[in-house]
Amino acid sequence: MISRSSKETEKIAKEFLTKLKPNRIGATVVGLFGELGTGKTTFTQVVAKLLGVKRKVNSPTYVIIKKYFLPLPRGSAQRARGSSPHLNPPLRRGGQKFKFLFHIDAYRLKNEKELLSLGWDEIIGNKEHLVFIEWPENIKKAMPKKHHQIHISHLPRRGDVKAGTKEGHRKFKIKNI
Ligand SMILES: Nc1ncnc2c1ncn2[C@@H]1O[C@H](COP(=O)(O)OP(=O)(O)O)[C@@H](O)[C@H]1O
Ligand SMILES: [Mg+2]
Repeated sequence: MISRSSKETEKIAKEFLTKLKPNRIGATVVGLFGELGTGKTTFTQVVAKLLGVKRKVNSPTYVIIKKYFLPLPRGSAQRARGSSPHLNPPLRRGGQKFKFLFHIDAYRLKNEKELLSLGWDEIIGNKEHLVFIEWPENIKKAMPKKHHQIHISHLPRRGDVKAGTKEGHRKFKIKNI
């Protein structure tokens, strides 16, 4: 898929979320591959917005892990007072059942060790968690075997003076959805 702007990236994110099947055992983990400035953070920001996160989603490069609560869709029956989550399992925005979004940036990590001390096991052990991780290459061994992959790359095109810089076209390749 090709995106020519951040707006088009939103369309790709929407489609991704629609097709995404939540993992039944642990967290649903998505690895975002791509060079600096390709739009890994932008993609996660768009996903957060689509899932109803009102807070500003900044790059977690320095804090490594950020956690966001995902509200139930406005007007959903499940949100009405008195409804029992047990009788009526909450159906979250976009049909997803995720309660928390995690945004992780492994850019500064040399290996998986530091991640383990940051509560990685609890994060990936919970099926209510949707986890987006930038630079998954850096923590290869910690990535669950079953995870989704989004590969983003700059798409230079003839006559595009800005190709290769932060503005321009991006190619999105989605694997294991
Ligand atoms: N088609 C596009 N899709 C996503 N981002 C784009 C696109 N075109 C330009 N951009 C810009 O590229 C930049 C990507 O930065 P960022 O998301 O921080 O990258 P990364 O996290 O991969 O380092 C943003 O400034 C964004 O506005
Ligand atoms: Mg980033």
